[in-house]
Amino acid sequence: MKKLITGGTVVTAADEYRADVLVEDGKVAQIGHDLDAGGAEVVDASGLLVFPGGIDPHTHLDMPFNNTVTDDDWETGTIAAAHGGTTTIIDFCLTAGEKRLKDAVVKWHEKADGKAVIDYGFHLMVGELNEDTLSQLPDVLEEEGIASVKVFLAYAREFQASDRTLFQAFKVGADTGAVVLVHCENGSVIDELVDTALAEGHTEPKYHYLTRPPQLEGEATKRAIELANLAGAKLYVVHVTCKEAVDEIIEARNKGYDVLGETCPPYLTLDQTYLEKPGFEGAKYVWSPPLREKSNQDVLWHALQSGQLQTIGSDQCSFNFNGKKRLGIDDFSKIPNGGPFIEDRFGVMYSEGVAKGRISLQEFVALVSTNAAKTFGLFPQKGTIAVGSDADIVLFDPNVERTISASTHHMNVDYNAFEGMEVRGEPVSVMVRGEWVIKDRKFVGNPGSGKYLRRKLANAKTVRQQEVMQS
Ligand code: URP
Ligand code: ZN
Ligand code: ZN
Ligand code: ZN
Repeated sequence: MKKLITGGTVVTAADEYRADVLVEDGKVAQIGHDLDAGGAEVVDASGLLVFPGGIDPHTHLDMPFNNTVTDDDWETGTIAAAHGGTTTIIDFCLTAGEKRLKDAVVKWHEKADGKAVIDYGFHLMVGELNEDTLSQLPDVLEEEGIASVKVFLAYAREFQASDRTLFQAFKVGADTGAVVLVHCENGSVIDELVDTALAEGHTEPKYHYLTRPPQLEGEATKRAIELANLAGAKLYVVHVTCKEAVDEIIEARNKGYDVLGETCPPYLTLDQTYLEKPGFEGAKYVWSPPLREKSNQDVLWHALQSGQLQTIGSDQCSFNFNGKKRLGIDDFSKIPNGGPFIEDRFGVMYSEGVAKGRISLQEFVALVSTNAAKTFGLFPQKGTIAVGSDADIVLFDPNVERTISASTHHMNVDYNAFEGMEVRGEPVSVMVRGEWVIKDRKFVGNPGSGKYLRRKLANAKTVRQQEVMQS
C-alpha cells in the first residue's frame, strides 16, 4: 500500500531538510511538499527524523563457532535489528568443511529463508582456505551474488589463514573485484600467550584481553595492508579497536592504498575493565579483538570523524551468559567469543555520536548506513532516501530518553553489554521496501519477508574474460 510520510526531517549522508516522502511499490516515489496522498496511508512524522534504514555490514546469525552456535537466529536476530533501526544486514556465510563452497551458501540460505524480516546479503567467510577452495571462489562469488570475502588472521585452531593463503585470497579479490575483509590479530602469537597464561594457572575472563594485546592487532593490520596492496586488492579491516591498528590504516590511506576500516559500538563506549568484573561476569564482554584501554575510544572517534574509518558494524555474535558463555567457566580460552549488538548499534551511535556532539547527523547516516551500501555494492538501492531507492526508512524520535536493558531488548540472549546505558533517541517505526516491520515500537512484520540481496562483483567474469581475450 502507498504511504505518505509527512512533516518529518529527511536526513541522508548529504542533506537534512523538511519534506514529505511518498512510498509506492516498495520504492521512494516522490519527495517534496503537498504531494498527492491519493489513497495512501498518511503517517505523521512531525518532530521525527526520517533516516534511511541502517545497514549492518557485520553479523553472525545462527553461526557455528567456538564449539557451539550463536544464540540469535535469523528470526530473533533480524527482528531485534529492525527494532533498532537496521533494515539490511550482511551476514557472514561460514564455509568450513564443505567440499563445495556452494553447499555452504545453500546452507546459509536455508537458515535465513522463512525467518528474516529485513533484507540481507552474505559475505563469504572461508574457514578453510586452500588450493581447492581458492579455485572455487571466483565462480561461487559470481553465481551466488556475493561481492566480499572474509579471511581470518586469528583463531589459529579454527580458521586462521597463513600469509600465503591470505595473499592468494587478495589475488582473487584483485581479479574479481571482491572486497576482502580481514580479521586482523596475530593468532599464532595469541595462542602462545594463551597457553602460557593457562600453564601459569590463569583461567579468568580478563586473561582474554591480557593475551590479545593491541600490538598483535597493529601487526596483523599492517601485514594485511601490505599484502593487499601488493596483490592489488581492496581491503576492509573489520572491527578495528585500537590506536595501533588505526595508525596503520591512516598511514596506508595517506599513501593512497585502497583500505577501509570498520569499528563497532562497544569499542567506542566500553573498555577492558569490563572483563575484570567479579565472578565470571567478565565473560559477558569476551569477544575478539577484545575491549581495550579507554584512551583508544578517543582515537576511534577521531578516526570516524575524519573519515579514516568508514563504517559501524555490530559484530553481532550472541551467546547466553547463563548458557554457552559457561563453556569457559574454568578456562577463559573456551568462552565463546562474541556479544549481542545488532539491536543497539544504530541507537548507541546516534546517542554517543550525534547527541553528544561527536558526529553530525550526516556523518551518522554515512557511518551506520550509506558507506556500507557504497562499499558492498548496494548503493543507491540501499543506504539513502532518494527517488527510486528502496523505501527502507526509520522514523526516529531524537528526544526520547531511555535506558538500554536486557529486560526490554528483543535479542534472544539473557544480557545486554550496554545494560544501564542511558541513551537519547529511539527508532519509533521502521519500514523495509515500503512495508512496516516496526510500527509504534511494535513488531508487525512477517518472518520470511526479508529478501536476499544479490550483489555484483566489480569485475564480473564476463569482464575478466574480455580482458583475457584482448590481452
Ligand atoms: O568475537 C567475535 N568477534 N566473534 C565473532 C567472530 C569474529 O571474529 O568476527
Ligand atoms: Zn572477526
Ligand atoms: Zn577527542
Ligand atoms: Zn565478526
